[in-house]
Amino acid sequence: MTPIRTLEALHELADGFQRANETVGIVPTMGALHDGHLSLVRQSLDETGETIVTIFVNPSQFAPEEDLQRYPRTLDADLEKLSAMGVKHVFVPESALMYPPNFSTSIVPAKVATKLEGEFRPTHFAGVATVVLKLFNMTRADVAFFGQKDYQQVCVIQAMVEDFNVPIEVRVCPIIREADGLAMSSRNRYLDAEQRKTALVLYRTLNHVRELISSGQNDGFEIVTEMRQLLIDGGVDSIDYAVVADPKTLETANFIDGKVVALIAAHVGKTRLIDNLVIG
Ligand code: PAJ
Repeated sequence: MTPIRTLEALHELADGFQRANETVGIVPTMGALHDGHLSLVRQSLDETGETIVTIFVNPSQFAPEEDLQRYPRTLDADLEKLSAMGVKHVFVPESALMYPPNFSTSIVPAKVATKLEGEFRPTHFAGVATVVLKLFNMTRADVAFFGQKDYQQVCVIQAMVEDFNVPIEVRVCPIIREADGLAMSSRNRYLDAEQRKTALVLYRTLNHVRELISSGQNDGFEIVTEMRQLLIDGGVDSIDYAVVADPKTLETANFIDGKVVALIAAHVGKTRLIDNLVIG
């Protein structure tokens, strides 16, 4: 399998799919593929006639102080994994193809983008929404597969698709975890052995929230206080947020009387980890 690197080749492929009336799935990724990514690919292969995986470490979603330079790049291994699954089409654009010198348009993402991640990474979702819309348009895909791992990202993409009438269906796939519960992430490889153990406290905390809620605790403030305490006691170095929120708007849930999502972003050493759990 040879990766697609030009727009001409991608258009030719999309033209062919259109002529054949194929349903096309897209799985956008930044590479360094693990079983979480591959679960989205599996779902696309199962549900659509043709699958295009995209691999692009999108500079516009990284802030200057973030890990763009050291973000893991493992293209050969990625292509091997995809090929072994039977993927035939992988789009691997260069930065200059996505952002030519005269590029200057950007999406202002929905209000939901301003909370949580948005408070700590204010330009992140504009970069995500912009590149994702470009990838949707370039591939002309019918169905897009995203992971619940990046819960707020899904909210932002769904809002964009709705607000801009983008003709694509968004599928959300469950979080794939290591055997001990750590949510798989390309950034987990930054963790040393000790930090790797500490990182488990995120999922432990989310499970504790589920237990609290199922045993009748409905005071959002009380729950969040416990979350923060558990995370600190568990050894995280700092907490960006630990919240229980409305699953659609991501507004803080002060009183819990239905479905909620618990979300955490915390630093273990220099590594920023996120995780979430939908409850109820
Ligand atoms: P990336 O972090 O590479 O993730 C690509 C897709 O894999 C996302 O939809 C993400 O939610 C999903 N994913 C990551 N870890 C997962 C896990 N443990 N279980 C299930 N799904 C998981 O998210 C991005 O890239 C970028 O922001 C992108 C959408 C490609 C735009 O640049």
